[in-house]
Amino acid sequence: MRRSLSFALRIRNLAVPSTPHGATLAMDNSNPHNHHHQRRTTNNSVESDPRVQKLQQLIETDPSAGWEESWKQGVTPWDLGRPTPVILHLHDTGSLPMGRALVPGCGTGYDVVAMACPGRYVVGLDISEEGIKRAKQMSCLSPNADYFTFLKEDFFSWRPTHLFDLIFDYTFFCAIEPDMRPAWAQQIHNLLKPDGELITLMFPMDDHAGGPPYKVAIEDYEEVLHPMEFKAISIDDNELAIKGRKGREKLGRWKRAVGKSSYEL
Ligand SMILES: C[S@@+](CC[C@H](N)C(=O)[O-])C[C@H]1O[C@@H](n2cnc3c(N)ncnc32)[C@H](O)[C@@H]1O
Repeated sequence: MRRSLSFALRIRNLAVPSTPHGATLAMDNSNPHNHHHQRRTTNNSVESDPRVQKLQQLIETDPSAGWEESWKQGVTPWDLGRPTPVILHLHDTGSLPMGRALVPGCGTGYDVVAMACPGRYVVGLDISEEGIKRAKQMSCLSPNADYFTFLKEDFFSWRPTHLFDLIFDYTFFCAIEPDMRPAWAQQIHNLLKPDGELITLMFPMDDHAGGPPYKVAIEDYEEVLHPMEFKAISIDDNELAIKGRKGREKLGRWKRAVGKSSYEL
């Protein structure tokens, strides 16, 4: 069931009962690209992971083509090889809004497929052609293929014909340059229906320097979302975070207090 919308900031532990997905809290070793990453991230060491360093090099060398290049070279240290457990939990417990959902910077799109169902059509968006190709390949045999799509688009300039009831951001906010965060919030505001919900799985909440991924804090989201009239309904520790991310992830749920989308189509 959806929580009541008090618009009061609430920060607490997300005490979630054990679910069928509870057993998947450990890193998934089924993704061959990620074996090295899994060893490193369990040490909570974003900076010292050579795959993250390689990603940072690629983005630094060519900010506009860096993501494409990382996909081409298979440098995808963020990729879990499966949906993040908390999104499965929210889906299974009926805690996600129905209607149209968007996952910006969706990568391989496991969360897109996990959220899709009759009653919820999910759009996975990524700037990388190679990333979108991979997402389509990974999901082509999915039984719920009628309920999602993948589009190669730049989140910041995309102008869809319909607005969204739900936007789910996981490791996109931390991937963009920090000076793009106000534009991120503006575009969330543009794309979401006035009564729509933004869910941010905030990661990595730690103290490392540089990026991507850039460190994030609740205040970083508030700084750009408050001017857009978004208020947190809840902010919870994500107890369902995978092993290497536990303690560095919070689930934020946001709604707009008043107003309309910037452009009604
Ligand atoms: C750190 S990855 C996260 C992928 C996915 N959310 C996940 O958790 O596996 C960031 C993704 O954002 C994409 N991306 C970067 N800039 C983008 C933009 N301006 N518009 C859309 N996607 C973008 C990259 O290609 C990459 O796939």
